[in-house]
Amino acid sequence: MEIRTQKIKEDLYYLGVNDRQTERFENMWPLPNGVAYNAYLFTGEKTCLMDTVKGLKEDVFMAQVQNILGDRQLDYLVIHHMEPDHSGCIRSVMEKYPKVMLVGNKKVRQMLYDFLGMETEQFIEVNENDELDLGDRKLKFFMTPMVHWPESQVSYEVNEKILFSQDIFGGYGTADGTIFDDEINYAERRTEYRRYYTNIVGKYSQMAKRALDKLGKLDIETICPVHGYIWRKNPGKIIADYTKWANYEVERGVMICYASMYGNTEQMAEELAVLLAQEGVQNIEIRDVCKTHPSYLISDVWEKKGLALVSCSYNNAALPMMKTLMHLLTIQKLENHVLGLVGTYGWSGGAMKELKEFADANKFDVCETKVETKGCMKAEDYELLKKLAKEMAEKI
Ligand code: FEO
Repeated sequence: MEIRTQKIKEDLYYLGVNDRQTERFENMWPLPNGVAYNAYLFTGEKTCLMDTVKGLKEDVFMAQVQNILGDRQLDYLVIHHMEPDHSGCIRSVMEKYPKVMLVGNKKVRQMLYDFLGMETEQFIEVNENDELDLGDRKLKFFMTPMVHWPESQVSYEVNEKILFSQDIFGGYGTADGTIFDDEINYAERRTEYRRYYTNIVGKYSQMAKRALDKLGKLDIETICPVHGYIWRKNPGKIIADYTKWANYEVERGVMICYASMYGNTEQMAEELAVLLAQEGVQNIEIRDVCKTHPSYLISDVWEKKGLALVSCSYNNAALPMMKTLMHLLTIQKLENHVLGLVGTYGWSGGAMKELKEFADANKFDVCETKVETKGCMKAEDYELLKKLAKEMAEKI
């Protein structure tokens, strides 16, 4: 296969593939703009491949490796993370380069067996601060457990201060010709980076904070993640955003997520937004949880201080899409938010009970005023909604 080569340094190549076929990352999270799986290849005194890609693009990936290595053998394959979007071509690499030494931590070795049924003596086990000598380059390893999986680790090339960060500092979206941060408009893509962080890493934010503290001590000039762009011009930008997201740093504003069957509950969401605005709140957004995938809702909620959940009842419970959102927000361990609750019902309640259970199960600053309405909104409900808007506005 005739195929491009893309250089990062004289002896370091980018081997990326774009996936525009997969509908949902992890079969969960929508990929309207696709996703890139990145790997890298050192070609100095020793040849060293940094991760592989999803098996879906094995032919393209292997052609890139072959094109760059030519007649050279592959000495090492460093495995930073075993999720199949990066480990999908390990077997093919070993078949093509049977003398290659795999490099990873103890959990990587276990997962090679667990996920690929692979047992091999060609494995160099590394621990925290261990180094791998590539002759003219040196890699140093740091463990980043649970960012994203238990075995996740990063490596740091000490001569040119290059961090191979696996999932950390990644984002959704394909790499369309360009591969560097200075070749894109990050401001346009930031929400897709945030959606990736909140969907994939958000649940592990405590561990992400630890990892970021650890990596913060390194002098980093270039970041090579396994998704998204290579940060060679301004790595501080993505480090700052990841640090913000991991620390649940929020800005003023309210996200109103509603579930409504025939419009009465939607109208309460609308009125709440107006009342919040009249209280001086800016950056208010309303989303229909039945139309917007929770992937986007989780991301949009993450950086806003206020969250209002407004749900009708369905079979004595919150509408299933609202339940899904609450379930996912609980899993993602969202915190540092002001929460306002509005529930409606037709005859025997349901939604408010589950909204309250959600509030109790999470670390939110919950507004005392709760609005529960039978049928459409009446004057007394409107007064309560006003009270809730005032309380939310004061808290944020
Ligand atoms: Fe991109 Fe956790 O895999």
